[in-house]
Amino acid sequence: MHLVLLGPPGAGKGTQGKRITQKYGIPNLSTGDMLRATVAEGGELGSKLKEVMDAGQLVSDALILQMIEERLAAPDCENGAIFDGFPRNGDQADALSELLGKHDRLLDAALYFNVSEEEVLRRLSGRLSCPNCGAVFHVTDNPPSRGGVCDACGHDGLKKRSDDEEGVIRQRLGVYREKTAPIIGYYKEKGLLHEIDAGRSPDTVFEDVTSLFGKK
Ligand code: AP5
Repeated sequence: MHLVLLGPPGAGKGTQGKRITQKYGIPNLSTGDMLRATVAEGGELGSKLKEVMDAGQLVSDALILQMIEERLAAPDCENGAIFDGFPRNGDQADALSELLGKHDRLLDAALYFNVSEEEVLRRLSGRLSCPNCGAVFHVTDNPPSRGGVCDACGHDGLKKRSDDEEGVIRQRLGVYREKTAPIIGYYKEKGLLHEIDAGRSPDTVFEDVTSLFGKK
């Protein structure tokens, strides 16, 4: 099973991707998490990436494709993968289709998590992320049980992401509208698109996701 998770920042792609991994054992390939891991390592590449991400812009296609190609070749992706935050523009969508074809694989579905920009702003301005394991929380909707401690891995240091400032969120939304939203039509034309109302609770959204897996 190969799945693309599409949707604006804060639509819940990471939240649902992790749940799919837990339930079905398919690895979640989050390009955002991979980039943040490189930033955390420091170095020249890390600081260049941080600059681009903190400006709410897209990182170069070449780097993203290299990361995805390497990750997809790992043994845990033998039976499929979830692409979370990739593709992000038409060229990346074409490159994914080519890459899968090269390995005799097919994309099964693109799940489009549709949510209002107002809700995106509410969610992202309250998001807390774990820099150690990538778990996400929300200050009011899904707070950690103990202050800034991650419930998933015990790391003491949950943080607001540096690109979750209101100005950067608005910039990311603009980039999404201009560059990423057009690929919704691309997958619709291929008959692969499944739109999910992501403005509801995480459990309700996941029920829709699992019912889709049932059909597949
Ligand atoms: P990335 O990390 O991919 O960020 P994003 O797409 O903007 O998505 P987010 O991680 O912000 O949101 P999400 O949809 O995963 O929501 P989440 O589940 O966390 O990318 C970051 C940057 O990296 C980009 O700006 C770009 O610079 C670069 N980049 C990444 N991929 C790239 C690519 N392919 N090409 C080029 N550049 C790339 O949930 C958000 C919050 O809402 C949480 O607090 C959560 O608890 C809460 N929540 C989730 N679901 C619900 C729900 N149903 N109801 C209420 N609250 C919810």
